[in-house]
Amino acid sequence: MKNLSALLFSCSFGAVAVRAQSTPSYRDKLLSFHKSIVEIPSISGTEPAVGNFLIDYLTEQGLATERQFLPSSNRFNVLAWPQPRASNRSRIVVTTHMDVVPPYFSYSRSGPEPPTAETVIAGRGTSDAKGSVAAQTLAVLELLAAGSVSGDDVMLVFVVGEEVNGDGMIHFSNVMAQRGTRPNVAIFGEPTNSTLACGHKGGMACNVFAKGRSGHSGYPASGKSANEVLMRALVKVIDADLGNSEVYGNTTVNVGLMAGGVAPNVIPAAANASLAIRVALGPQANGHLIVRDRLQEVLTSVDAEAFTLECPFGFGVVETNCDVEGFETDIMAYGTDIPRLQGNHTRYLYGPGDILRAHTADESITVGELESAVEGYKKLILHAIEPAKSKKPKKPKRC
Ligand SMILES: *[C@@H]1O[C@H](CO)[C@@H](O)[C@H](O)[C@H]1NC(C)=O
Ligand SMILES: *[C@@H]1O[C@H](CO)[C@@H](O)[C@H](O)[C@H]1NC(C)=O
Ligand SMILES: *[C@@H]1O[C@H](CO)[C@@H](O)[C@H](O)[C@H]1NC(C)=O
Ligand SMILES: *[C@@H]1O[C@H](CO)[C@@H](O)[C@H](O)[C@H]1NC(C)=O
Ligand SMILES: *[C@@H]1O[C@H](CO)[C@@H](O)[C@H](O)[C@H]1NC(C)=O
Repeated sequence: MKNLSALLFSCSFGAVAVRAQSTPSYRDKLLSFHKSIVEIPSISGTEPAVGNFLIDYLTEQGLATERQFLPSSNRFNVLAWPQPRASNRSRIVVTTHMDVVPPYFSYSRSGPEPPTAETVIAGRGTSDAKGSVAAQTLAVLELLAAGSVSGDDVMLVFVVGEEVNGDGMIHFSNVMAQRGTRPNVAIFGEPTNSTLACGHKGGMACNVFAKGRSGHSGYPASGKSANEVLMRALVKVIDADLGNSEVYGNTTVNVGLMAGGVAPNVIPAAANASLAIRVALGPQANGHLIVRDRLQEVLTSVDAEAFTLECPFGFGVVETNCDVEGFETDIMAYGTDIPRLQGNHTRYLYGPGDILRAHTADESITVGELESAVEGYKKLILHAIEPAKSKKPKKPKRC
């Protein structure tokens, strides 16, 4: 998940979450695979080692694999699908990312051994998102062993770079478009606490530049402090309503970086701040532009001349399909690769682990969460293959 942020609120259908049977037959296989991939650090930019491991492992499991190299890079996405496949296209893409945020924390286990559902597995990536890598892989292998999926149904896609700029998913999306092999359904794995997400907030990155005039600090009126005007504006921005909706809550602003001035006794002529904004307005394509306009208004209200606003990147709320029986549902406040996969496919967002533990030094997951996610992914894949067979669809609920 890109950037830690709190989940908002729960809206349940009243259905119980998918639970794994008490000791699934695949427990050892799942845990040893998960351990192997967590033990390979794979901080964004350094994914080839874990990618090579995944290619070898998935090949050994009988899947066809492809290293999908990013342009002029040694970094690659891992693609894998059951053989044989009649076409070059898989209808369902089951995907997550194999990069993790820094710093690396090694794998450890606490609680009952041999493991039970309560055993806790700690380490970087155990949840975000190698918990999803492991659960998605086991779900596909289990369905394949049961004869429930075939070559053209499903493809595993583990991308690089999600935690930084999404270059892996952007490349995958471009290649699918070029080859004419876009999927009908994409199931994205991120820690959703094993709820099926109905959507997540949008995001926008903005830089605010404040221009002042230098002068001697003893004579404040002789200049104009860029730091001061920027501080006044940012406080107002934080307190402002930049856009809210019933389902997605408030648009929130993180002032992540600030810089300004040259010396304590010089009135600062220039200052800037970089903001990460979580957008609560839709639509996906341009909901963020409304927020940008409101942000501009706040800046202008503080000082009509001092500010330049640049928002190089943004999108509105991302809606996902949560219309599947048997899952609790929720709304996420973080960003994902979902908007980077272009096309007109049905999108799901689901995965094991609690986002409040992801990106922390205490990142962890329980064996029970991993196992219940294997069952959850199986259910989603089967639903995607045969939507007609599942219970009568409900209209997507907005709580
Ligand atoms: C995830 O679930 C746990 C256990 O039910 C809960 O304590 C935690 O607050 C949940 N996390 C979020 C982000 O809702
Ligand atoms: C699948 O794609 C590869 C690479 O683009 C190409 O070489 C191959 O001919 C394609 N096969 C089919 C069945 O379309
Ligand atoms: C949203 O912002 C308003 C103030 O603009 C505040 O009263 C409210 O508590 C906020 N809601 C949440 C969920 O943080
Ligand atoms: C903000 O100013 C600092 C100091 O001049 C500079 O290093 C930084 O790159 C600036 N940030 C942006 C986003 O331009
Ligand atoms: C997307 O798919 C839906 C239903 O499958 C269809 O109604 C709609 O026209 C499609 N939109 C585009 C842009 O292809």
